[in-house]
Amino acid sequence: MCGIVGYVGNKKAVDILIDGLTSLEYRGYDSSGIAVNIDGKVELFKAAGKLQNLKNIVEKNYNEISKSTIGIGHIRWATHGAPTVENAHPHSCNCGKVAVVHNGIIENFKDLKERLEKNGCTFRSQTDTETIAHLVATKFGETHNLTEAVRLATREIEGAYALCVIHQDVPNTIVATRRNAPLVVGLGEGENFVASDVPALIQYTKKAMYLEDNQIVTLTPDSIKLIDIDNNKVEQKVETLPWEPVALSKMGYKHFMLKEIHEQPDVVRNVLSGKLRAIDENVVLKEVTLDKEKLKNLSRIQIVACGTSLHAAMVGKYIIEELCEIPVDVEPSSEYIYRKTITDKNTLVIGVSQSGETADTITAIRQAKSKGSHILIITNRPDSTMAREADSLVPVNAGIEVSVAATKSYTAQLISFYLIAIYMAEVKGMGDLSDLKHELIILPQKIEKVLAHKEDIQRYAKAFANSKDFIFIARGINYPTALEGALKLKEISYINATGYTAGELKHGPIAMLDESMPVLSILMSGKVYDKILSNSEEAKARNARMIALTDSMDDKLNELFDCIIRIPKISEILSPALAVVPLQLLAYYIAEFLGKDVDQPRNLAKSVTVE
Ligand code: G6P
Repeated sequence: MCGIVGYVGNKKAVDILIDGLTSLEYRGYDSSGIAVNIDGKVELFKAAGKLQNLKNIVEKNYNEISKSTIGIGHIRWATHGAPTVENAHPHSCNCGKVAVVHNGIIENFKDLKERLEKNGCTFRSQTDTETIAHLVATKFGETHNLTEAVRLATREIEGAYALCVIHQDVPNTIVATRRNAPLVVGLGEGENFVASDVPALIQYTKKAMYLEDNQIVTLTPDSIKLIDIDNNKVEQKVETLPWEPVALSKMGYKHFMLKEIHEQPDVVRNVLSGKLRAIDENVVLKEVTLDKEKLKNLSRIQIVACGTSLHAAMVGKYIIEELCEIPVDVEPSSEYIYRKTITDKNTLVIGVSQSGETADTITAIRQAKSKGSHILIITNRPDSTMAREADSLVPVNAGIEVSVAATKSYTAQLISFYLIAIYMAEVKGMGDLSDLKHELIILPQKIEKVLAHKEDIQRYAKAFANSKDFIFIARGINYPTALEGALKLKEISYINATGYTAGELKHGPIAMLDESMPVLSILMSGKVYDKILSNSEEAKARNARMIALTDSMDDKLNELFDCIIRIPKISEILSPALAVVPLQLLAYYIAEFLGKDVDQPRNLAKSVTVE
């Protein structure tokens, strides 16, 4: 939610800021801006809409702007105030000497604003962020020290923030700080960087330092000073980033989403690597640090997650209950945190998150942790806040996912759930799971087969692209697959798509069916196959346009369905990990056919760091 980037060094800051914002676009993209220092004066350049609009402004003024070797930049996902130029960051104070970029929400901004206005500050935007600019300027007036001004300002701010501040009278210096929002410092030679996330730094440096809550960093080209909010010096923990810049390239694909869909066979191999070595060996999951005796005595598991990760969690429930016979509850994090949840020492709480930064999930796991539960985090970002707060950390190794619509991280989360469930079942001595292990090992080849037939899905996509609505039905372990298929479609094509349990269709949704409504039945072999077939007959009888996604070769399906997407045979329990791939492709090709902005759908952000 909002991306920030800062640079101080010897190069043209604008190039690094614009590159950085481009790689942070997944965090929001409704307006953007930069602040640089031109001939000793802080200047702001801002644009509403996509980053390209800012790029156009920069291009026109490049000779001037490129003089600066210091700057801060921001890409926004609006919370307070519409995405206009006035509300775009950076924000400034009355004298125009301070520039601030901010990710997060200042909860007490109304009180602060009232007070600052009484003291003569004039607000130009509707944002909460502008209060920080005025507050820092006021504190600077009292202290003439930018680090101290930021430190004192943050003592008065309530809420979540990652901030970067520059001041005209303190050349070559950026002060940055965070509380409940991510911020990483990149260390270079004669230059230093700061950003919301690693993609903005990785092409310049692999040496990085993750800021912790309430730490304040002061960057100059040659120095980095770290203190805490009480002005104590803090030891700097510099680490080497594991990412490669190539992860951020489309590698010839038209969109990141298509590239990421195609990476899934390798992602599965990666997740399994070193953990599932052979079908006759136990799964090795050193990451789960929960004592084996405690694991055997678990009374319940709660899983919290949002969006696509929530669907992975729902599949996880089926797998764990089936293999381990432990009751599992799954809940959206945003609901979990506002009710009385019953947890204790015998409850394992699993948080699932691609980014590891989703505010609702962070709050949920903190709540559970405070009640004594062991917290296991499944995340694609071992460098994230959730990862750092986990008792057990299971990294999913999907590599950086750039497309806002999650694909490969979902598959990686599913595979992690299979591994966790098998591990727990083996610790509990629940019987032989070699068939499932064998199937997991050969799953990448089956995904490759699905990808090899993508042209068929592309053809169907064209046929259904003009539908206003879309229904996905399934039962059992593939009900979350139906939800995920519908979510993918609505996220990137804006078609009103909904997933239902097939049995519920007749209890209301069936009223919507007519010859214009596509109904996609996920018909995987197993105990609910015949039931879904009957539910599909009911839909067909109401003239719906019928699509099957199936691993069955049953000829009868040809009469019932207008289109059939066939995938390789697979066991029911593993089928969600294969069935989702054609649904990702279907959503992708429909959105692409409709000319939508596939990688950056409107109104969305990849990482939602506000509740
Ligand atoms: C946002 C994204 C979704 C994602 C959800 C949860 O809404 O647009 O694609 O599934 O956040 O994110 P997380 O990083 O916690 O998995």
